[in-house]
Amino acid sequence: MHDEHFERLLSLIDIEREAERAENERKLEKMPVQAREALGKTVTRLVISREDYGVGGHVLWVLSRPSHGEEYSPFQALNQGDLVSLSFQDPSISKVRGTLYDVDQYEITIALDGIPPAEEPPKGKCQLDVLGSEATYKRMKKAIVSVQQAQKKEVAHLREIFMGAEPAEFGPSPQPSPEKGEGEIGPSPCSGEGGRRPGEGSSAFFNSKLNLFQRDAVAKALAAKEVALIHGPPGTGKTTVLVEIVRQAVAKGARVLASAPSNIAVDNMLEKMLDAGLKVVRMGHPARILDSLRHATLSALVAEHVDQKYIEELDVQRAHLGRQLQRGHDRGMGWDERHSMQKEINRLWREARDMEFAIGKQILATMDVVLATHGGIAKTIGKKPFDLLIMDEASQATEPLSWIPITQAKKVVFAGDALQLPPTIYSEEAKKRGLGITLFERLQKIVPEEVQTLLRIQYRMHETIMGFSSQQFYDGALQADESVRAHTIEELPGIQPSTVTCKPLMFVDTVGAGYEETWNDLLESRENEGEAKLALYLYQQLREAGLPAKSIALITPYVAQVRLLKQMAGNEDGIEIGSIDGYQGREKEAIILSLVRSNDRGEVGFLGDTRRMNVGMTRARRLLIVLGDSSTLSRHPFYLKFIEYADKNDAHHSAWEWINS
Ligand SMILES: Nc1ncnc2c1ncn2[C@@H]1O[C@H](COP(=O)(O)OP(=O)(O)O)[C@@H](O)[C@H]1O
Ligand SMILES: [Mg+2]
Repeated sequence: MHDEHFERLLSLIDIEREAERAENERKLEKMPVQAREALGKTVTRLVISREDYGVGGHVLWVLSRPSHGEEYSPFQALNQGDLVSLSFQDPSISKVRGTLYDVDQYEITIALDGIPPAEEPPKGKCQLDVLGSEATYKRMKKAIVSVQQAQKKEVAHLREIFMGAEPAEFGPSPQPSPEKGEGEIGPSPCSGEGGRRPGEGSSAFFNSKLNLFQRDAVAKALAAKEVALIHGPPGTGKTTVLVEIVRQAVAKGARVLASAPSNIAVDNMLEKMLDAGLKVVRMGHPARILDSLRHATLSALVAEHVDQKYIEELDVQRAHLGRQLQRGHDRGMGWDERHSMQKEINRLWREARDMEFAIGKQILATMDVVLATHGGIAKTIGKKPFDLLIMDEASQATEPLSWIPITQAKKVVFAGDALQLPPTIYSEEAKKRGLGITLFERLQKIVPEEVQTLLRIQYRMHETIMGFSSQQFYDGALQADESVRAHTIEELPGIQPSTVTCKPLMFVDTVGAGYEETWNDLLESRENEGEAKLALYLYQQLREAGLPAKSIALITPYVAQVRLLKQMAGNEDGIEIGSIDGYQGREKEAIILSLVRSNDRGEVGFLGDTRRMNVGMTRARRLLIVLGDSSTLSRHPFYLKFIEYADKNDAHHSAWEWINS
């Protein structure tokens, strides 16, 4: 009966997949090769070492790259299932498209699309470009089909609730009410027989620092039968609350799956869970996981397993046979003999991989929490649904992506903020037809208030930095915790007081300074050189006042401005420059935000998406400096209000204060 909804999602996935592919192909033509190579989207200097045939008669090309002593394999960032194109140095050979079939340290195998070329594979160097990832699209479609058909009864139940056909239920567990000033969840959720009691103090919470809203969120999530939503403006402790919910659930014997749309968001949870002493394992390719956390990946744990030595033996035997086969080939060994040798090699490979798989399964079964990105959840995590699924940054995942982990769960707790950046979508059409609406947003309207909480106390920003976002986006409901309410740069150790260190907020107005924006055609984005120079000057002022580089970031909405700032900063020690989009979820003591737009048409373009500004303006703990041209910006009501806010808080400065000095 919900077929229409799911059929539409299925068709939107196809539209989006095509749009991503086309966009990547178009961009590819504009971006310099080195830039793409640095992103891991391109590998140059490849040669085709042999041709092979795969399942279904697909032609496979095996490629390798002569080593230049690189520390990492050039294939680190590639994934099985990626859509790729191969182009050849010889311009008379036309481009070939295909799918990555297999990737290891030394070789990649591509399954060619369509009808295979009749001739031998071309000799000479070629270049591989990633056009998109097929794996995630496949998993989304599979998840949706499995939800439609409701192969598991738990999933069928969640589907009815998430489609609004059945009400979400919640248990009788007493709800603590922050208004009443109670800090305890009635009968402790983990004081039952056999339950572990959290550390010191009489609180029923493992994390004794949780504020009343956070405690309420934990209680509601535990009482909910199928679903709970945690809404939280920036820095209000959404991830912190999720970790507490996981600890409570694990204490009662639950198996938990924790996922998020991006690797960095999953790593963020992982870090907090490791600190909490939970038994966790992180799925996913180690290449995409923070260095400091790689020890918690499944691959690392498998490699440390006592049975790893048997796998190594098998791999050594296989390599040995491979060399024999190669020599036999050269000496004209008979077909039969070669064939049986090849069979043995394949068998050894299979056996080693099966053993790895079995060890992985064993490890997974002993862990309390499994972490993965939504898109990175594969069959390997097991058939039995998890008792609890935690989804962080829920407002950044499209609905089809969110269904991938949900098909593995009995109950789901979402955390997010619909007023920060939405997921990136390539296709305008798909966005318009509904892909732009996240499941989190949809559920906000469907599920009862009893399973939803809004966190209100934030632990990051000075009150004045927080104030504008709070007014504009959260009806003024946000509160700054006492520990951060009035903190400034000046209070940090080793700081020399100056004009840039004593205030929490500065709007540096470039009106009349002659800093015009320019269009960067290569990057299809805007930049502003004058503003970049001033931003770097203010950065120097902060450094000279004694603030370490790692406590400051320069951010901007435009990728061209990011590049320009990086270029102008040269090899300035430890300077951090990034886009607002890449900074969601992160924080610094001081943030310098360059808005770029300055034109006499009053055009603000995609600055008009104020959710991006909500992210940009809430990354700073003690000091936010915003650079922009008031005459251009003030034609948009949001920026007009911001300028008024700066005026009211004695934070409106003119760029001339620095230009003349
Ligand atoms: N109750 C609390 N007391 C003190 N610090 C807290 C509390 N809750 C969260 N924090 C801190 O606030 C910061 C933001 O928390 P986090 O959970 O990452 O928020 P969010 O996920 O909402 O962005 C972290 O440094 C966290 O340790
Ligand atoms: Mg978070």
